[in-house]
Amino acid sequence: PAFLVCKTPTGEGDRVLLLLHEPGAGSNGVRLTMESALTARDRVGVQDFVLLENFTSEAAFIENLRKRFKENLIYTYIGSVLVSVNPYKELEIYSKQNMERYRGVSFYEVSPHLYAIADNSYRSLRMERKDQCILISGESGAGKTEATKKILQYYAVTCPASQQVETVKDRLLQSNPVLEAFGNAKTLRNDNSSRFGKYMDVQFDYRGAPVGGHILNYLLEKSRVVHQNHGERNFHIFYQLLEGGEEDLLRRLGLEKNPQQYHYLVKVVLTNTKISLLFHSDLLSIVASVLHLGNVQFAADEQGNAQVTTENQIKYLARLLAVEGSVLRDALIHKKIIAKGEELISPLNLEQAAYARDALAKAIYGRTFSWLVNKVNKSLAYKEGEFPGWRSTTVLGLLDIYGFEVFQHNSFEQFCINYCNEKLQQLFIELTLKSEQEEYESEGIAWEPVQYFNNKIICDLVEEKFKGIISILDEECLRPGDATDTTFLEKLEETVKNHPHFLTHKLADQKTRKSLGREEFRLLHYAGEVTYSVAGFLDKNNDLLFRNLKETMCNSENPIINQCFDRTELTDKKRPETAATQFKNSLSKLMEILMSKEPSYIRCMKPNDAKQADRFDEVLIRHQVKYLGLMENLRVRRAGFAYRRKYEVFLQRYKSLCPETWPTWDGRPHDGVAVLVKHLGYKQEEYKMGRTKIFIRFPKTLFATEDALEVRKQSLATKMQATWRGFYRRKKFLHMKHSAIAIQSWWRGTLGRRKAAKKKWAVETIRRFIKGFIYRNHPRCPENEYFLDYIRFSFLMNLKRNLPKNVLDKSWPTPPPSLCEVGSTAPGQMALEQKVIASEIFKGKKDNYPQSVPRLFINTRLGNEEINTKVLQALENEAIKYAVPVIKYDRKGYKARARQLLLTQNAVIIVEDSKIKQRIDYANLTGISVSSLSDNLFVLHVHCEDNKQKGDVVLQSDHVIETLTKTAMRADKVNNVNINQGSIKFTVGQGKEGIIDFISGSELLIAKAKNGHLTVVAPRLNSR
Ligand SMILES: Nc1ncnc2c1ncn2[C@@H]1O[C@H](COP(=O)(O)OP(=O)(O)O)[C@@H](O)[C@H]1O
Ligand SMILES: [Mg+2]
Repeated sequence: PAFLVCKTPTGEGDRVLLLLHEPGAGSNGVRLTMESALTARDRVGVQDFVLLENFTSEAAFIENLRKRFKENLIYTYIGSVLVSVNPYKELEIYSKQNMERYRGVSFYEVSPHLYAIADNSYRSLRMERKDQCILISGESGAGKTEATKKILQYYAVTCPASQQVETVKDRLLQSNPVLEAFGNAKTLRNDNSSRFGKYMDVQFDYRGAPVGGHILNYLLEKSRVVHQNHGERNFHIFYQLLEGGEEDLLRRLGLEKNPQQYHYLVKVVLTNTKISLLFHSDLLSIVASVLHLGNVQFAADEQGNAQVTTENQIKYLARLLAVEGSVLRDALIHKKIIAKGEELISPLNLEQAAYARDALAKAIYGRTFSWLVNKVNKSLAYKEGEFPGWRSTTVLGLLDIYGFEVFQHNSFEQFCINYCNEKLQQLFIELTLKSEQEEYESEGIAWEPVQYFNNKIICDLVEEKFKGIISILDEECLRPGDATDTTFLEKLEETVKNHPHFLTHKLADQKTRKSLGREEFRLLHYAGEVTYSVAGFLDKNNDLLFRNLKETMCNSENPIINQCFDRTELTDKKRPETAATQFKNSLSKLMEILMSKEPSYIRCMKPNDAKQADRFDEVLIRHQVKYLGLMENLRVRRAGFAYRRKYEVFLQRYKSLCPETWPTWDGRPHDGVAVLVKHLGYKQEEYKMGRTKIFIRFPKTLFATEDALEVRKQSLATKMQATWRGFYRRKKFLHMKHSAIAIQSWWRGTLGRRKAAKKKWAVETIRRFIKGFIYRNHPRCPENEYFLDYIRFSFLMNLKRNLPKNVLDKSWPTPPPSLCEVGSTAPGQMALEQKVIASEIFKGKKDNYPQSVPRLFINTRLGNEEINTKVLQALENEAIKYAVPVIKYDRKGYKARARQLLLTQNAVIIVEDSKIKQRIDYANLTGISVSSLSDNLFVLHVHCEDNKQKGDVVLQSDHVIETLTKTAMRADKVNNVNINQGSIKFTVGQGKEGIIDFISGSELLIAKAKNGHLTVVAPRLNSR
């Protein structure tokens, strides 16, 4: 078979694309800066073999590895494949900070690392929701298991987590030491060699958090339980148990600390393996039982039948495996066969008994290991089914499987292991080389064949039906008659003698024959020649456990053993599959699993066989480079196109690098990409346009484009920031402007409305004023009331400013006509005048004067309606100016009688109801007498000549000051008011005289005294 290469010339290859296309600007400057950036990243050698100048030279390849290894740069890429060289020493590159450096970062931006591969797979898993797998290959001791652990740690640290997830993370990490204890052992190649294949799925939920896991284990090297090559050891767990087990525990298990005691353990000096034993006691019982089994010894009796000589072991075994001791003993030395429904029991000879014992030990250990894996799986299982039918998780698989192995003496196990590696190589070819070719074809890109070795021919040699080695082996195992390892070899020679990759002593030519024993066959693996010894092939393939031993185990009360040995096995008539066939089938299932996922590769190498740091054994490395197919890998990478992207994806990512495609390209993505790469200055040989994808030959080209994008992103970010800021400011400005306009218009409206209202008010005021002026002489009505009020207001305001300087000043301002009438008789003015007069008359002279001061004098105390009409008629035109109710004391008996006193223009009139009792013209009024005390009595003195007159009148008024003041004023007798102390004399008709005596006392009393005088007791006032 051949590989294809592009027809276009490959060009010098190391050119860097031009970023900028300024006319006239020399391209050299740009190229130089770009190249210096590149070399800065690849300070030691090249970090990607694709960049190697002389890519066909194995020496250059190894030199690059060596240079980097010397500087502790153990990782190098071939495109996206990671090559790792075991440093055999702790390097400071697995820190948490370093993990963070690789998180979410593009492949080319950081130096090569496991973490880059891990992160890349994880990101594809999250972005495309496509299952991933990381295939870690390399020979024993190359660092596969370490790499697996480091990747798991990377996910444990960098993936998002919830609390529940935390436990899954822990369990994933913790499952490792458990399985390593039971499945790893010290070999010549590796102190911690995995003696089983492991494929581990890590399940991630939609958020990218690890939520579960599953482990598939492959072909544990069980033979190690009963036999180890020189310098190797049994599985770690045995030593850990003996060395780390507490005395108590060991006693219970019937074990001694010294491994020398056990036939199954080689006599090696123990290393310090301090591992705390947290395993379940049932599990440790099983481990101990295997050691005890190894110490079971037999001796032959007379018939040559085996007998157990170590009863003690049987006792321990019975307890540890929880079986009947005698049953176990019998089962170890007998064989039970069921033929035609009949049970046949036959004794075993020594050799057979030892074989049966070892078979049991292997079976117990092997099955327990599977049980352990199952147990781990149960603890890692993720309960899906929140949304049945919808797979909510994606899976990332890690394959850590035994590497290609060549020993001095290679047996069935090596055959299986190396077959497995052939299969993986096939997968690698399938997934990378072949599929690549198919893609070029489907994309319509022309190719030219490139030679590469397809190892399918070897796979077929091993696994082909009927003609393959496994088929022939199975046939030998199953056929009746005496099949032995030798007959198997003969069959092989017969069937595949012409195969170019198969050789035996018989088939070899003279020269090679020397290197082959008669019991051996040689396979020319893709990775090198391996000579296998057929001894033990049949037994190991049969993996036979005698029926009675199986039965015994089925009856065990140790729960683990009980689960490991299923009763259905006993009744199943079908022959169990042979070990090789089982392995073949599980491998083919594994291939299916891997094929369905997107693979990433880590190719591990060991620098020397001595497990030493800083030693780079070129021969050993060359060998590995060869059988790992790294040179081929590189050749294909270089011949083909390193990168491909769908047009849409490519355009989306890089469109900002070209003005025509930025920010949007309206045409077909294909055309957009064409314009874009032209603008970027991609050379003809650097890329090809396929049907749906662009193919880029060198990573460098993409690398440079990525760099350009990085630069562009910076400027875009600045531009976007500026644009955004501008936009933001403008938005803010517009908003403010809008607000200002709103406020302005609202305010203007308010002002306008106010002004209009004012105008309206003014118009109305003026109109009212004019109307009022027109109606000014009308009685008060709605038309003039405003005007009149205004006139009054302004008159009063004017008055206020121009008040007369004293009360006697009569120069009163002229009131407006509407106020005139009121003005002349202004009560206030008159009252004030009267008050002044009253003060002149009485102030300081009469005791009750002060009381009258705060009381206003009023026009009259009696309205016209209170005065009899007859009186009014009698008075005719004579207007009553003042009227007040009074009490008259008659002249003889001083009887008190109610009367009215009226003041007219000309006279004082005393009225009794409808009768005018007495009329005193002012001219006849000679004087008025009053006491100085607080009483209200007064006497009107009348001219005596007038006959008509009845004499002086004795009266009493409640408003004596007011009544007397008004009377005095009317009668012009202000100066004739006498204020007397003691008594008052008065005339009572015809010259007779009467006397009123005034004294002060506690209360008012008016009565006729014995002496005929009227006595008035006036109360003393407080003011006196
Ligand atoms: N990256 C590494 N850094 C330091 N030591 C390593 C590294 N990888 C491997 N080793 C050493 O090499 C030994 C063998 O590695 P391991 O992963 O068990 O090999 P494999 O699984 O390929 O057989 C480890 O026990 C460890 O001492
Ligand atoms: Mg390993």
